[in-house]
Amino acid sequence: MKLIFATHNNNKINEIAKITPEHIEVLSLSEIGFNEEIPETELTLEGNAKLKVDAILKNKNVNCFSDDSGLFVEALNGDPGVFSARYSGERDTAMNNELLLRNMKSVESRSAYYMSVFCLYFKGTHHFFEGRLYGEIADHPKGSNGFGYDPIFIPNGYTSTLGELSEIIKLELSHRTIALNKMKEFLALNS
Ligand code: IMP
Repeated sequence: MKLIFATHNNNKINEIAKITPEHIEVLSLSEIGFNEEIPETELTLEGNAKLKVDAILKNKNVNCFSDDSGLFVEALNGDPGVFSARYSGERDTAMNNELLLRNMKSVESRSAYYMSVFCLYFKGTHHFFEGRLYGEIADHPKGSNGFGYDPIFIPNGYTSTLGELSEIIKLELSHRTIALNKMKEFLALNS
């Protein structure tokens, strides 16, 4: 079965490819010749995920899926949330992480979670699947594994940041893995 993954983000394509069942062939946007940027203009992860799927559907009526994700920090009322990729105003990881740590300076309660929402368009209907990874914001960045906020995110049950933990552990814990597993279960029952 072929499913189009509505993303240009190679980190995500690599991560998804490692956890997708063999009978499903995941194709990226560039693999189907779709090179437009899809602006993420909605104010929720669900809204942005659906928007990306609908952009594909405008061009081609195919089974496809997309995800949107972000980091939600309790003490910052859920920021950076849906704006995680450009929290500092730029799509710049170092600047985003620096700003977040600055905003968390001397904040004691450091609970946060990553959340991922997948939107799957399958046989004519949209379906949504959500995954969360709970943890805490570190005092300073540690490690260089992963991407985005991983060097400043310590998952619950660990003392190291995702930047320090191995790729295998990240994949096991990931909000995307949790959401994707729900989507996989759905596809196993419905395809
Ligand atoms: P998007 O889902 O591509 O829009 O990504 C949103 C942003 O959330 C990313 O650019 C990262 O800043 C952040 N993010 C989402 N998932 C992760 C993750 O697994 N690790 C680190 N940062 C993440």
